[in-house]
Amino acid sequence: MTGMQGLTGGRELVMVSNRLPVDRVVASDGSSTWRTSPGGLVTAVEPIVEQLGCVWVGWAGNADERIEPFELGQMRLEPVELSSDDVELYYEGFSNGTLWPLYHDVIARPAFHRQWWDRYRRVNQRFAERVAETAAEGAIAWIHDYQLQLVPEMLRKLRPDLTIGFFLHIPFPPRGIFEQLPWRRAIINGLLGADVIGFQRVPDAISFRTIAERYTHTQALGNTLVLPATDDSPGRTVLAQEFPISIDAAAFAEVARRPETQARAREIREELGNPKRMMLGVDRLDYTKGIRHRLKAFEELLTDDEIDASDIVLVQVASPSRERVDAYRKLRDEVEVTVGRINGEHGTIGHAPLVYLHRGYTREEMVALYLAADVLVVTPLRDGMNLVAKEYVACREDEQGVLVLSEFAGAADELNDALLVNPHDIEGLKAALLRAVHMPQEEQRRRMRQMRRAVHDNDVAHWANGFLGSVASVSESRGASHASGLEEGKTGPISIVPQAFVPRSVGDRLRRIATASSLLVATDFDGTIAPIVRRPQDARILPRARQALEILATAPGVRVALLTGRSLDGLAQTGTGTSGEGWIISGSHGSELTGFDVSGVMAASGFGEPTADEAEWLHRVNRRFERVLGGEPGVRLERKPFGIAVHTREVHDEEQSRELQAAAVELGLAEGLHVREGKQVREFSVRASNKGAVLQSIRDALPVGPVLFLGDDVTDEDAFSVLGPDDLGIKVGPGESAATERVPDPAAVAAVLARLVELRTGIVIGSD
Ligand code: ADP
Ligand code: F6P
Repeated sequence: MTGMQGLTGGRELVMVSNRLPVDRVVASDGSSTWRTSPGGLVTAVEPIVEQLGCVWVGWAGNADERIEPFELGQMRLEPVELSSDDVELYYEGFSNGTLWPLYHDVIARPAFHRQWWDRYRRVNQRFAERVAETAAEGAIAWIHDYQLQLVPEMLRKLRPDLTIGFFLHIPFPPRGIFEQLPWRRAIINGLLGADVIGFQRVPDAISFRTIAERYTHTQALGNTLVLPATDDSPGRTVLAQEFPISIDAAAFAEVARRPETQARAREIREELGNPKRMMLGVDRLDYTKGIRHRLKAFEELLTDDEIDASDIVLVQVASPSRERVDAYRKLRDEVEVTVGRINGEHGTIGHAPLVYLHRGYTREEMVALYLAADVLVVTPLRDGMNLVAKEYVACREDEQGVLVLSEFAGAADELNDALLVNPHDIEGLKAALLRAVHMPQEEQRRRMRQMRRAVHDNDVAHWANGFLGSVASVSESRGASHASGLEEGKTGPISIVPQAFVPRSVGDRLRRIATASSLLVATDFDGTIAPIVRRPQDARILPRARQALEILATAPGVRVALLTGRSLDGLAQTGTGTSGEGWIISGSHGSELTGFDVSGVMAASGFGEPTADEAEWLHRVNRRFERVLGGEPGVRLERKPFGIAVHTREVHDEEQSRELQAAAVELGLAEGLHVREGKQVREFSVRASNKGAVLQSIRDALPVGPVLFLGDDVTDEDAFSVLGPDDLGIKVGPGESAATERVPDPAAVAAVLARLVELRTGIVIGSD
């Protein structure tokens, strides 16, 4: 697997999951070994950490065991101790007796116990504290799964310097089901502590965003949730979207290619008596996996003589899981009784049609089983993804084999050339099994080829790239690149998927304008390509946006313009707009202009120095504002070449800030100035210029072609309003706008610009 180095941009990666990737197994003689933990989480995440290295915080699988941190391969493992009460109340109780059934369509009845909830909170707090003690400054914490949904919020309080990602490996339920949870608001708030929340499927992410809007003060803008500022924290955004998980497809294919694996596959079939057809099921022994439905369909086919017990074998591998939880114990009893009945009724002395194996196997043995199987039967009633289905496909380089797959597994979104079934429909399931057993080789090949393409296109590197790329881009926009020592203005080696933040409609419109022979790319600065900060002089352009604009500025037929309310001097203080960038820059809301042959534009907009009258007027205005507002705590007056700006961002009381703005406006109008309203700023000018007028003048002086304009503030509306139907206006963040498209924040703007670069020049910004 390639393409993941540098994903974290040099920041430490801290993985946090209920279980460590290895469980400690203690033998009867007291000696202990480490064994890979069960489940899809480890299968997916392990290859990522092999490449990236990480600290991994989690439980080692046994109660009351204190284990010192230790190294394993590229990982430093930090075991969290769980007492037997923790295991009973937090793990078996709230995690697997409440959340697991609730999140899986209430297939089993979830139990709601306050004592379980209380322990869940305490154990989550312990995990958060452990991560807070362990993580390096500016690290990325990646928290996994339903057992730890409160950790993001708890961790953010303890370590605001960290960038936090959360990935839910199981489904997120529809609102009607989730709302049953007595602690629903706390869970949503817990998750919203993350910067990025990943889900397996689109409906999961939609449901979460809908519920978050209902139970908290957030507002959804596309995939992003906007959290308002509160007394304790500034406003921020949370990306909540689907990132379908996958496997290291190449690694599975490599094991499948080995002669010894293929020999073992032949041996397995011999051991089974060389049946005409071998069917296979591989699951944790979990009631969500639809094992009972599968066995019922198989039994009925045998009973009805639809299949011949001497020709066909079903091998069911069911790995032990959560054996002390009631519903799991009951399931095991039922499955084992059914297996006995089927073999008792349909087996012979030398042959059993159903082989049931209740244990774990090595990767090599699993792959040999996949190669041996003519049909893989995956019938969960609900499953986040189901990696077994993807593993089977990845192993079948011979393009043979049939996958019968439940529509209710996440994998069905990608593997739609499987025989898709509703496992509740036993007749439909029987029909699909028969169809699979009799499928011609050519059809198998066609379907398998399509499915293999899907698994290879979205392998685990692609998943990690999408998720970690989004997390890293948040980290970048929060200036964490500073903390990690990345040189300012450089993107660093972060391999970000540029599409991460680009809404589909924006992508489509970009595609339309990208190839125009002449293209003007114009953007506002603060709040658009540079995140808003408390002190204006600290604002910095996002490295990725800078890189994109630099490339565009040198691309044939493209001009780049920066239209800012700042004066040109104020802009230069931020390290942007200094010189040599080849950009057209207009400052002071269209009153200043540089980097362009202004002759034509000048006539239309009147640039240049203030006239003598204007200069005198300005002098009077400055004195007046200084006297009336200069002494107000938190108010900052910014002198500009053609006016003055009154900033109230640092006035703590909102009411007071509003009053001061109103006072400033009164004063400005009394002086006959032109007034502009911005976010916590009121601007006054002796000239009537605005961004719309200057944008119009610039485009008039260039060859005919479309304009892209991006802006976040009220003053950018002047520019949006001069755009025509073939142009593209993109508003950044909430608020009314004349723009036709919208993205949530500057990181998304950077992604839009990166996408435009890719469409125009073929250059992918930030990839290895
Ligand atoms: P879940 O995460 O719910 O267990 P998945 O299908 O997504 O389900 O992942 C299961 C993972 O566990 C797969 O990688 C599969 O190969 C592995 N697995 C399942 N059963 C066994 C077993 N008996 N021995 C070894 N690995 C197993
Ligand atoms: O996402 C499924 C999951 O719960 C993972 O968190 C875990 O790796 C796996 O199943 C196994 O579950 P457990 O740790 O309860 O045995």
